[in-house]
Amino acid sequence: MRHVVITGGNKGLGLAQTEAFLDQGWTVHVVARTPGDLDLSIDRIVFHEHDLSDWKDVSYLDRLHADAGGLDALVNNAGVHLKQAVWDVAPDDLDRVLDINVKAMFLACGRYAQLQAGRGGSIVNISSMGGLMALPSAAAYVTAKTAVIGLTRSVAVDAAERGIRCNAVCPGFIDTDMTRAVLAKDPARRDKIEGRIPTRAFGTPQNVADAVFFLASDSAAYINGVALPVDGGYAIGF
Ligand SMILES: NC(=O)c1ccc[n+]([C@@H]2O[C@H](COP(=O)([O-])OP(=O)(O)OC[C@H]3O[C@@H](n4cnc5c(N)ncnc54)[C@H](O)[C@@H]3O)[C@@H](O)[C@H]2O)c1
Repeated sequence: MRHVVITGGNKGLGLAQTEAFLDQGWTVHVVARTPGDLDLSIDRIVFHEHDLSDWKDVSYLDRLHADAGGLDALVNNAGVHLKQAVWDVAPDDLDRVLDINVKAMFLACGRYAQLQAGRGGSIVNISSMGGLMALPSAAAYVTAKTAVIGLTRSVAVDAAERGIRCNAVCPGFIDTDMTRAVLAKDPARRDKIEGRIPTRAFGTPQNVADAVFFLASDSAAYINGVALPVDGGYAIGF
């Protein structure tokens, strides 16, 4: 039995990732504040309550590692968005975005690489196309998601000798609660965005989950340190 930890695997993109790993027979350890949309009657879903704002605490990984007898993969998916220009971002909001999107992920990567040293494993970090290009009025988010790519490359280099790969996925515009909440404030923007996506459509959570599972799995055994856009070609521009 293979085991994966997915932060924020209880809803949105994370829930689709939970389902993708379940479909492939893995046991999924979901780390989140609430069970959210998880079906806890499924015995291969293990819910672990944790608030990632408490970013210095990665002891949940030790517990899950001990319970499962090893963790084949870690998906750092949890994240928060902030739709504000740089001059509007309050210091506490900047802290929140960096704490959850970057610092909690940073320490989780480090702890996972210690726990799995010599046993092998795979980390997938969820960045964004905001990690590859600037997005309007999203300075804190873009800063955080760009840092995720730097972190991913650093871990990929350092942890390779421990048999651990680390890659990032950069979703574009995907239909989820988060995207809908952001675009609800500016409905005309959705049409404009679709016009700029080469495939002319928003992606689905399943599109992202397929990429995450691929990078976590042995099918990607020689892929290390990439930031893979899953965006219908948006970030290449045209
Ligand atoms: N939806 C998109 O179009 C899109 C695009 C690019 C990147 N992303 C990224 O994908 C990831 C998932 O986004 P989503 O769209 O599913 O968002 P969402 O708001 O639906 O889910 C966010 C997830 O993060 C978890 N989370 C947030 N704060 C937490 C905390 N303090 N402690 C524990 N868990 C916490 C939540 O439980 C939830 O599962 C995020 O990293 C996001 O930045 C999303």
